[in-house]
Amino acid sequence: MNEEITDLNSPEEFEEASEEKDAPEEASPASDKQMSHQDKDYLEQKEERIRYFRTKNLMERVREMLFCLVGAKKNMGIYPPHHSICMDSIFTFFQAAKKYFQLANDFSLRIVGEELYYEEKLLARESLLYYSLVKDCKEKGIGGITIYKGLTPEEFADFLYLFSLDCAELQKRGGLKNLLGRRGIVHIVLADPGTYEEIPKEEMIRASHREEYFNAIDVIKELAEEVIAGKKLKISKANKVVGSILNRVVEDRSAVLGLATIKNYDEYTSYHSVNVLILSLALASMLPLDRSALMILGTGALLHDLGKVTIPTSIVNKAGPLSSAEWEIMRHHPVVGADILIGQPGVHPLSVVVAYEHHARYDLKGYPTIMEKRGISLFSRIVEIADVYDAMTSDRPYQKAKDPHTAIRYLVKNRGTVFDPLMVKVFVDMLGFFPVGTLVRIATGETGIVYDQNEGDPMCPRVKIIRDPSGEEVEPRIMDLTLLKEKVEAAGRSVVEAVDPKKLGIDTLRYL
Ligand SMILES: [Fe+2]
Ligand SMILES: [Fe+2]
Repeated sequence: MNEEITDLNSPEEFEEASEEKDAPEEASPASDKQMSHQDKDYLEQKEERIRYFRTKNLMERVREMLFCLVGAKKNMGIYPPHHSICMDSIFTFFQAAKKYFQLANDFSLRIVGEELYYEEKLLARESLLYYSLVKDCKEKGIGGITIYKGLTPEEFADFLYLFSLDCAELQKRGGLKNLLGRRGIVHIVLADPGTYEEIPKEEMIRASHREEYFNAIDVIKELAEEVIAGKKLKISKANKVVGSILNRVVEDRSAVLGLATIKNYDEYTSYHSVNVLILSLALASMLPLDRSALMILGTGALLHDLGKVTIPTSIVNKAGPLSSAEWEIMRHHPVVGADILIGQPGVHPLSVVVAYEHHARYDLKGYPTIMEKRGISLFSRIVEIADVYDAMTSDRPYQKAKDPHTAIRYLVKNRGTVFDPLMVKVFVDMLGFFPVGTLVRIATGETGIVYDQNEGDPMCPRVKIIRDPSGEEVEPRIMDLTLLKEKVEAAGRSVVEAVDPKKLGIDTLRYL
């Protein structure tokens, strides 16, 4: 792959590498104005890359530190404080903490309801894995734990010892918070219960994702107009959108995937292009690809159907079957799209390949004919899955939208022929069998909308309940279906079936 694709291990390395690889070209006096605009773009893109890198690394270190914290706490509850197992786990925690504090000055865990947050970010999987920590905090009157840089092993060992005391003992000694003060533990601060109950800015963050989604729609529409007018494409705008969506996918995959359920019948191609971008990036971000690679893939995904812009809408939107002449025109859009993109400065050749190959199929029985024995590129195989999934779940003049669950089954059925089987597996693992936005009836008889996935348990997502068993509307609340599992053994599964939202007159987007 191209030489820009690097494998860096720290933000420092990344920043250094960015300096070397991405320095803007020397400005010429004749194009001062243009260059200053380019400089601005360059700086914005660089900032986005650094933000992406920090977030990805930071969350890995948060999870590692939390894992070590829970391990050390557990050992302290079992063994005497000076036992070698306790000492070892404190040492391991400090190794993880050292890595974490290279990126941040404090480590803030928050308890909201039954869930664990790192700052404002929900740790959905950890909330289940470390439920004993959440429960312990709630019982001992802790709403949050903040650990500051500068923590000493003595403070930490002391804290773990006090934390492992039972509730009655803590109460007798004046409560855990007071005890920390008295023992001189200054680098661990506890919050009162309920401190963060109102804090989750999830709604605000989701609103900002939505704004970016519609910005992306505007950009793809502008690019389509430029194609029609025969103008040079403003690729930097597309790259900016791809960079921003990529950061959001990495930070908040489930919420951004929810956006890909937005459809628009009249402006199908624009919405489809942005949805394919989101789905492709979400899938690819599960693979060991670096940011440069994801950017190239993203640009290809966003622009994959640009060739359709030149096809008369009477053909694109025809309700009945296409005539052979019309079909010939339609089948040509990947070639037309690649032709448009190949002449544009700033478009990577692999992004052009995506436009060219996205209907070629894994077994090469699609179009255009690919002679190469090595098959189609990885990026094309990813975009093909995203493309078909979004097309199947959209209303078109010639088809009714299928529910996401049916589309997933189609992908699984055609793995190895139309689709790359490995990429289908990653896609299904990521979306779950009931993707975000699917309306489902669960074993309790209630109806809800899939809101979030539980990693590693694709059959048991988190669902926003909106109707009771009798079909009456209720105040929306989130239910984690993994917690329902035991109760529904008799029913066999927690989600009974996917339900067509149109039949119930429900606008699922309202709840995402
Ligand atoms: Fe296409
Ligand atoms: Fe498409």
